[in-house]
Amino acid sequence: METKIFSPNEIETAAKLLKQGELIAFPTETVYGLGADAKNELAVKEVYQVKGRPSDNPLIVHVDGVEMLKKYVNEISEQAQLLIDHFWPGALTLIFSVKEGAFSTTVTGGLKTVAFRMPNNKTAIALIKKAGTPIVGPSANTSGKPSPTSAKHVYHDFQGKIAGILDNGSTQIGVESTVLDLTSNDGIPVILRPGAVTKQDLEKLLEEVRYDPHLVSEKERPKAPGMKYKHYAPSVPVWIIPDDNQHWQAAVAWAKKENKKIGIYADQKRVNQLNQKTAASFSYGDKAIELATKELFAGLRFLDEEAIDLIFAPAFFEDNLGVAYMNRLKKAANQKIFEI
Ligand code: TXA
Ligand code: MG
Repeated sequence: METKIFSPNEIETAAKLLKQGELIAFPTETVYGLGADAKNELAVKEVYQVKGRPSDNPLIVHVDGVEMLKKYVNEISEQAQLLIDHFWPGALTLIFSVKEGAFSTTVTGGLKTVAFRMPNNKTAIALIKKAGTPIVGPSANTSGKPSPTSAKHVYHDFQGKIAGILDNGSTQIGVESTVLDLTSNDGIPVILRPGAVTKQDLEKLLEEVRYDPHLVSEKERPKAPGMKYKHYAPSVPVWIIPDDNQHWQAAVAWAKKENKKIGIYADQKRVNQLNQKTAASFSYGDKAIELATKELFAGLRFLDEEAIDLIFAPAFFEDNLGVAYMNRLKKAANQKIFEI
């Protein structure tokens, strides 16, 4: 199969293919999604197959607004409406109890709930509108690999396996949406996956929000099935480096002693500073959590193609967006933090 690259003015063609049951990758503000008609079970099955995704890991359903959502959920609570008014379109996925039979078990993974999101991307919304159907959209990467933040990343993973990719340049946020469960027994919303809509953001609107215990202690079983799988991992080991001179110098010295070729993901100053000692580098620009987050997956993917033995990447303080960044990086690094 030839994988076509569509520009945003070819949405009509892409939507038609999608409606015919083909897979079309699409841009969002977070990462690219692997789109299929959520009402077409065969197409959804194909999404799992192409990604190599475990079947117990349910998909996010992308909608073009609250009217489409209403068709599928039992109730939109006052709380849910408040969140929708405030954060949609945007990087907040909400988990609702879903109408019986609204989606196949392939979409729900056998759960009674479904995750919904309205992406903040005109091309994505136009695709949903033109197709006239909600679209499932897991991140458009091979299961276990870093999520795609450009059409090129999608092409790398799925060339020849999907009908097309809608190319809308690089994504703005760089990590997947915050997943918030609105169906907990005690009614307190629970963050299952941290993203750009932070706990602090949510606390401005809600009385109480908590993290899934799994996000605090790895020993707990995660409520979002996807969070238990290995993720975001390049083929060489990744180490997290506390972001100060002393730690970077020690890490580089250790790798040299071990005869390991180093790849670094770091801010431009750090890249310049360590230039002589590294085999490959990817700079995210100025030292800012937004930039480090935006470029993280692109950086890991770039370094993965280089002749190196390991990757070093900086730690950030785990507050606000730093929670989402560190969540992804810790998974990529399999929790390995370099300590002196
Ligand atoms: O930003 C994003 O959310 C991207 C873009 C493309 O929209 N999509 C994305 O989808 O990250 P995916 O499938 O890679 O991640 C969905 C996450 C998984 O961890 C999954 O286990 C969880 O949401 N999830 C989906 N439905 C759920 C449900 N009913 N209950 C609990 N967790 C659920
Ligand atoms: Mg994913």
